[in-house]
Amino acid sequence: MKKNIEKLDNFGRGITFVDDKITFVPKALPGDVVDIEVTNKKSKYNEATINRIITNSPSRIESKCPYFDKCGGCTFLNTTYDNTIAIKKNKILDLIKRNNIDVKEYTFIENREPFGYRNKISLQIVDGKLGYFEEKTHKITKIDKCLLAKEPINNFIPKIHLFGIKNGKVTIRCNYKEELLISIEAEDHIKNLGDDIIDANNIWGIVLNGKCIYGRDSFTEKIKDLYFEVSYDSFFQINTYITQKLFEIVENNVTGNVLDLYCGVGTLSIVASKKAKSVVGAEVVENAVKNAKKNAKLNNVENVEFILQDLNKGIDTNNKYDTFILDPPRSGISNKIMNLLLNELPDKIIYVSCDPQTFFRDLNLLKEKYEINKIYSLDMFSYTYHCESIAILERK
Ligand SMILES: C[S@@+](CC[C@H](N)C(=O)[O-])C[C@H]1O[C@@H](n2cnc3c(N)ncnc32)[C@H](O)[C@@H]1O
Repeated sequence: MKKNIEKLDNFGRGITFVDDKITFVPKALPGDVVDIEVTNKKSKYNEATINRIITNSPSRIESKCPYFDKCGGCTFLNTTYDNTIAIKKNKILDLIKRNNIDVKEYTFIENREPFGYRNKISLQIVDGKLGYFEEKTHKITKIDKCLLAKEPINNFIPKIHLFGIKNGKVTIRCNYKEELLISIEAEDHIKNLGDDIIDANNIWGIVLNGKCIYGRDSFTEKIKDLYFEVSYDSFFQINTYITQKLFEIVENNVTGNVLDLYCGVGTLSIVASKKAKSVVGAEVVENAVKNAKKNAKLNNVENVEFILQDLNKGIDTNNKYDTFILDPPRSGISNKIMNLLLNELPDKIIYVSCDPQTFFRDLNLLKEKYEINKIYSLDMFSYTYHCESIAILERK
């Protein structure tokens, strides 16, 4: 059926209406006229796919990626980079307005190079077929290359079949020295790679189901003049250029005694330590806390300490902290941490988020007691609908 795409939803899908019911169409842009097929009817909405584009949106361009139409990895390779920024900016400005957030300043930081920026990708293998999942399914889009990934990662993709994995997941990380750290989750018997493949691809380590089977299970990453040991299972920001910008914003805004919650391998704690009196970082992944302790030593930092803590259970604070840094997963800060903030009311909060919905949910709870001096959007995840945000809050 022929439909006009009116606008985008929060996941970058086109919106149209079928018999007055909202219908989401992935990979459709506002202004497109498309022939669609409803593939999933729910009580409150439909999901549909594009059979054919009848008239192109003025903002539509030819995708540079041959897998784009099917692959669930990217959202916006069918439009210009400038338009992706306009889409993300409008979304954040709309959330600011709808949540009645009185923000003094808003800045958008673009990616320096919106292709080849990802230092980590995870590929799925189903019945020997390697690729990304299609949008919202477990069907594989077979790929040989990902335009968002760093080049050494792409060079290794055609070698993955040598492991002989039938079903599983392969995560490839690439650091500043272009070394690869590979983590495999699979039940199959894994074949060893030959020395020639290991050397030619600069493979630093291979981990199978949490056990190191070649080299080391962590490697060293460098951002600006700082070094970070990162285990195969520790979080690390996927975009080095944007992470530099994140570091600058954190460094320029911390004061006094700092509590860095959801600290990962200690990146923001170590950055904050330059301006802070003291820093305590807390994190739930054991290897990440081990990495963080080592990273303090690696960077000759003495005023930080790290603790292993599940922040869903809260955290005991005997000291008074002047600044809280929060960088939670997509689910946002836990109820216990929100209660802690509203009880302790630190002078400053630096809230870093990769999910605008939970970010604004949490800002809404804090806005009574805090001025929201500045919000930054950072294009950490170019060409996808995801958007990184930072808010700088000061006690009223
Ligand atoms: C977005 S990352 C931020 C890490 C770090 N700030 C950085 O920039 O590298 C979120 C971190 O929260 C951690 N995390 C997730 N759930 C947690 C929980 N319940 N308690 C403590 N940490 C948690 C993750 O392991 C991850 O390291």
